[in-house]
Amino acid sequence: MEHSHRPDPAAAPSSDATGGGTDGAFPAGFLWGAASSAYQVEGAVDADGRGESIWDRFAHSAGATLNGDTGDVACDSYRRYREDVALLGRFNLKSYRFSIAWPRIQPDGQGPANPLGLAYYDRLVDALLEAGIRPLATLYHWDLPQALEDQGGWPNRDTAPRFADYAAQVAARLADRVQHWLIFNEPKTFTSAGYWHGAHAPGRRDPLAFLKATHTVNLAQGSAFRALKAQSSTLQVSSAFDVAPMFPASSSYADLAAAERWHRFQNLWFVHPALHGRYPAGVLPAEQQEALLGWRSGDERIVRAPFDFLGLNYYTPSLVSHAPLGNGVPGLRVNVQWGKAPGATATTDIGWDVQPAGFYDIVMRMAYEVGSLPIEITENGAAYNAGPGADGLVHDPQRIGYLREHLRELARATRDGAPVRAYHCWSLLDNFEWARGYSQRFGLVHVDFNGQGARIIKDSGHWFAGVAARNRVD
Ligand code: FCB
Repeated sequence: MEHSHRPDPAAAPSSDATGGGTDGAFPAGFLWGAASSAYQVEGAVDADGRGESIWDRFAHSAGATLNGDTGDVACDSYRRYREDVALLGRFNLKSYRFSIAWPRIQPDGQGPANPLGLAYYDRLVDALLEAGIRPLATLYHWDLPQALEDQGGWPNRDTAPRFADYAAQVAARLADRVQHWLIFNEPKTFTSAGYWHGAHAPGRRDPLAFLKATHTVNLAQGSAFRALKAQSSTLQVSSAFDVAPMFPASSSYADLAAAERWHRFQNLWFVHPALHGRYPAGVLPAEQQEALLGWRSGDERIVRAPFDFLGLNYYTPSLVSHAPLGNGVPGLRVNVQWGKAPGATATTDIGWDVQPAGFYDIVMRMAYEVGSLPIEITENGAAYNAGPGADGLVHDPQRIGYLREHLRELARATRDGAPVRAYHCWSLLDNFEWARGYSQRFGLVHVDFNGQGARIIKDSGHWFAGVAARNRVD
C-alpha cells in the first residue's frame, strides 16, 4: 500500500522559508554525542565490590546468548575509560551518554552506597568534564541487581522505592557535576523482552508479570524523578524512550486501529503517565486496567514526572496487523513484525529494515505528543559487522550511508519545527549486544574482542567527526 509518510518533494519547504536550508544543516548549538551502557562496555564485573546483575545471571545461563557470550570483559571500559573519552574528543563530540550500573552502587539493590562503585563514575565524569564533554547519565540500562530479581524484580511494586533510593544516592554524589539525566533506557523493551518474551534478562515469559512490571517502572520513574529534583531542582531529567512509527500492514481499518493501539502501547506507555498521570486510553480493556497493572488510588501522583526534555531512541519501524486471537496480553490483539518497514529495500546486519523517513515521522509525531519539550536523540545507529581489512583499517561505508540518511531526515524534522537539540550515535564502541553477544557491531570504533580489546577507528568514526565539526551532514 501507499504510505503517506513519504515526503512529497513538491511540498518540501524552500531553504529560505526555514532558515536552516534543505541540505542537512543543524540548528546552531546542536549537541553531537555518542552513547553506551554499563553492562555492554564496562566488563570488570567482579571489581570493587560490584554485585551480580540479572544480565550476569542471564548471560551465564546455557543458551541465553549467542555463543554463550557474556559482558564479563566487554570493552573493558571500566579500566580503559580514558581511551573512550579521548576517542569522544577526537570525534569532536560534546556529549557522552553512559549508564550507571546499579549493582556497582548497591550490590544487593539496597542499603548504603558502595564508595568504590561511586568512585568509578566520579572518575569518568571528571574525565569527561576535563575534556569539555557533557555527561548524560542513564540511571538504569537494564542491569537490575539480581538480589532484587530474587524478590520479584520489576513486577514487584517494592522495586520502585528501591530504585528511587538508588537514584537519590547517585544524585547525592554526582549532581554537582552531572546536570543531565535519563532515568530509564527503553522501558518498553526491557519490560517486554525481560518479562513477556524472555529473550532478555531475566528471561521470564509471563504477559501478566510483564504488565505489572510496566506499572512498577512507571512508579519508579516518577519517584526517581522527584529524588533527582530533590537533590537539585535545576537538573534536566528525562528517560530514553525507544520509539518507532507503527505502520499498518494493510489499509484495512482493523490494521489501522491495531497500529494506533500499538503506537500508544509502545511509544506512549511510559510517557503519558509521566506527563499526564494516567495511561493512554484504548490499549488495555478499560474495566480491567487497574487489576492488570496493580494500579492503586494515588498512583496518578506517583507516576508523574514532568520531564525537562524527551530522550528518543530510533532504529527501525514496525508493521502491525490486527490479531483477533490476541498475543497473550489481554485486549491488545495486535500482531507485530518488528524491524519491518513498508517498502524497505535494505536491512542492517542484525536484520532490521532501514527506513530513514521513519525517523522523521516518529520525531514529528512525538513532538506533537509532548508539546514543546526539547528532544534529544539518545540513540540511533546500525549494525554492520565489517572488521579490519588487509590494510588494517575498517571500511564501513554502509554505516556512513545509514547515518547520513537518518541525519538528513533529522535535519528535515528540525526544519519542520521539531525542537531537537542533540543526537547521540549508538555506539561509540562495538560492544556486547545483549542476546546477540559480540556478533553485532554498532560502533564507530572497532573493538578486538579476541585480542586485548584494541580499538580501531572505523571510516564511519572519521566521517562522524566531520559531521560534528561542521554541524551539518552532506
Ligand atoms: C537499543 C539498546 C542499546 C543497544 C541498541 C542496539 O535497544 O538501548 O543498548 O543494544 O539497541
